Amino acid sequence: MPAFETAIVVGASSGIGEALVKKLAAEGTKVAAIARRESELRALAQSCGDRVFPFVHDVRNFSEAPVLFDRICAELGSVDLLVYNAGVMPRVEESEYNFEKNRQMVEINLLGAMAWMDPAAAYMEARRAGTLCGISSVAGDRGRRGNPGYHASKAGLTTYLESLRNRLTHRGVRVVTVKPGPVKTAMTDGLKMPLMISAEECADGVLSFAKSSTTEGYVPAAWGPIMFAIRSIPSVLFRRTSI
Ligand SMILES: NC(=O)c1ccc[n+]([C@@H]2O[C@H](COP(=O)([O-])OP(=O)(O)OC[C@H]3O[C@@H](n4cnc5c(N)ncnc54)[C@H](OP(=O)(O)O)[C@@H]3O)[C@@H](O)[C@H]2O)c1
Repeated sequence: MPAFETAIVVGASSGIGEALVKKLAAEGTKVAAIARRESELRALAQSCGDRVFPFVHDVRNFSEAPVLFDRICAELGSVDLLVYNAGVMPRVEESEYNFEKNRQMVEINLLGAMAWMDPAAAYMEARRAGTLCGISSVAGDRGRRGNPGYHASKAGLTTYLESLRNRLTHRGVRVVTVKPGPVKTAMTDGLKMPLMISAEECADGVLSFAKSSTTEGYVPAAWGPIMFAIRSIPSVLFRRTSI
């Protein structure tokens, strides 16, 4: 018996999302896999037998999310787990202030999450069961100098998930926030970053949080004490660092 009979993974066509779909399907979960790239989704579904159901969707089409959520509920019979994993991190130069890139990150990383989590939260609250899981990032823990729009979008996602958790914990719904450090995927292609892990290792970490009683955490766990130290640096000193 799988931990989740049914699941939705939003942002499933590559990287961490693709690895999550494969692992869930291998455990016996029926998974709705959502993203824009149809050919990648079809190839993923084919490689997983008959347990993966591809749905092409751009998370910026916010009004489509509740309609698609209802359709998936009807097709799968239920939704026990929703993972919101869709995200983008365009490269931003040190002195670049680019509203279009910022808007793209906020729309995909944060507003898309709200568009999907809201109908899922209402559905799970009514059933008094279910798990909502958001893939945030260590990048949301501080407003670092590198990519202000990305940091803000992930900080917003972390806070939104915390609020949902505070509402829903006593109504039988688990809300899980996972903050990965650097993961080797298309998003980080060409970047040199510390403690880099594979998408598969990250997906293992995400699923262990989704199944456990711990509702917030870092993948890998080593980022916990590191981010504790980084969060503790006073702002007046932090701005002098190159972190
Ligand atoms: N890689 C890292 O170091 C790292 C670290 C911490 C957190 N994260 C987070 O982990 C998540 C997955 O990232 P990844 O590293 O696996 O990168 P990735 O391979 O580029 O995957 C991003 C996923 O998001 C989907 N997506 C992007 N824009 C979308 C849109 N408008 N509509 C629907 N789906 C969309 C992509 O699908 P389509 O392009 O087919 O639509 C793809 O499936 C992101 O939220 C990212 O912020 C990554």
